[in-house]
Parts: sequence; C-alpha cells; structure tokens
Amino acid sequence: MRIHRIAQEKVNGLQPEADLTQLEALFTRYRNKSGSLIPLLQGTQHMFGYIPSKAFEMIAEETNIPVADIFGVATFYAQFRLHPVGKNVIKVCHGTACHVQNANSITDAIKGELSVKDGGTTEDGFFTLESVACLGCCSLAPVMMIGENTYGKLTGKASVKVIRELRKENSSNNQ
Ligand code: FES
Repeated sequence: MRIHRIAQEKVNGLQPEADLTQLEALFTRYRNKSGSLIPLLQGTQHMFGYIPSKAFEMIAEETNIPVADIFGVATFYAQFRLHPVGKNVIKVCHGTACHVQNANSITDAIKGELSVKDGGTTEDGFFTLESVACLGCCSLAPVMMIGENTYGKLTGKASVKVIRELRKENSSNNQ
C-alpha cells in the first residue's frame, strides 16, 4: 500500500504569506483549555489548508509547548499538512479494497495527466495529488475524492476524464 503525505517542507522552509491574525480567534476559543494542541492544529489547517511555519511559533507561544514538540505532533498525524495545497486536492484511495482494485493505475494516470508526483501540486496550483488510506466507501473501490465529491469504480482513463472536466468547467467559469 502506498500512502504518501503531501510533500513536507521543513518548518522554516519558504512558504507563501498567510494572514495569521486570524489565529487569534482560535486562540481565544481554546485558551487555558487542556488538550488544546490538536484542536489548534486542526483549526489552523482548516483556516489555511495547511499549517504555516509561523503558526507553529504562534501556537508555541500561546500554549507554552516547544515548537519542536508541536512539530513532532503535526508530523506524527497524517491529517496535518505542512505545505500549501492546490485549489482541488485529489485524494486517491490506496486502502486495501482500492489497492486490490488497482488504485495504482489511477494514481499513475493522474500523475501522467498532470505531470505531478504523488503529493505534488500542479504549477498553476489547481490540483494537488495525494494518496490516502481508506476513504470509507470500499464498495465503490477503487475510489478518489476531489473536494466533497466521491468518484467510484474508477479506471485510470475515467479519473483523467474527471480531471479534464474539472479543468474545462473552471476555464469556462473564468471566461
Ligand atoms: S479502501 Fe478505498 S475506500 Fe476503503
């Protein structure tokens, strides 16, 4: 089973600026509450789509937990991203049911179509490709999710078709 998390940069790596003042509301909500670290990390990711490097410092200051420990927690759990992602995250399931139904062919087809590696983002920032564990709809295997939409019983060709349609939709919406 191939599960790759989105490529991680070191905490101090180059990342685009995010407006971290928004974190203040989150801090207020969890201030002086025990066990707040995971909700703070989840809330941060919910706001920005990933956890910006500067947010680690701010959370450390807020919670009095060393940055290294927070980073350790964030890298331990697969749910956390340390790198910005594209507008659409394509999650290809590589859980057991999908794996035996040739999920690799879907990932390979999308990699070819988008010229990205697993965990990579297209140059235009429109797609990020990610291999994930079971998405919870094994009867539809092999499965991928893009945003809230689930696509089942896929083939490599069918997954590429979905991606092309999304691109087409996006360009006609922008005209
Ligand atoms: S293994 Fe893919 S949805 Fe469960």
